[in-house]
Amino acid sequence: MSEKYFQIAIDGPSGAGKSTVAKAVAKKLGIDYIDTGAMYRALGLKLLRNSIGMDEVEKIKAVLDETEIDICQGDIILDGEVVSGLIRTPEVSMAASACSAHGFVREKLVKAQQKMGESKSVIMDGRDICEVVFPHAEYKYYVTATDEERARRRYKELLEKGEETTFEETLAAIRERDYNDSHRAASPLRQAEDAQLLDTTDMTIEEVVDYICNKVK
Ligand code: DC
Repeated sequence: MSEKYFQIAIDGPSGAGKSTVAKAVAKKLGIDYIDTGAMYRALGLKLLRNSIGMDEVEKIKAVLDETEIDICQGDIILDGEVVSGLIRTPEVSMAASACSAHGFVREKLVKAQQKMGESKSVIMDGRDICEVVFPHAEYKYYVTATDEERARRRYKELLEKGEETTFEETLAAIRERDYNDSHRAASPLRQAEDAQLLDTTDMTIEEVVDYICNKVK
């Protein structure tokens, strides 16, 4: 790792505001933001499009072999197609969570993420950034909030996008994803020992962003 570059690693459960915070910190500090969840979502989208079940290991391996996922100027590119607008649905969320439990999927995407962050300063968010992707990151945070508060934020987002859902459904989906993400064998979601806990339940996005930026300066 070059000395002039630094990494900010952010982990945490769904709906904690990680990506909103990371995007704003990146803008303020003039560094790149890498949304690793979007990469798992892009693969989930491709598997759904091909009607492949999340437990069809051989088929997923074959698809993965011929899949290219990239991030370019904030957009997520799946095999040359910009899919940023298609990956935030509840179906794709569950597909991403399910396919990310496969060790072979993680191996390929983690390698790509490490490459993206090796020759520039980046802020990266996900579930395994502090322990697996960038264990030597200079700054590590575990960003979370109560499940009700996370569901409230996600529900508001989904309503704004015109998705038909209820608060109860959103809360149940958040809890299901938390369970899947933290109980899988491969790199389960957990707070790294050396990551600082940031409970954002009673914090505004601006407060979290300022907190991180002040630490980095
Ligand atoms: O952050 P997100 O909600 O967009 O992530 C979608 C899913 O991808 C999430 O449920 C778990 C998985 N994921 C992961 O396993 N590791 C990461 N670094 C990022 C996301």
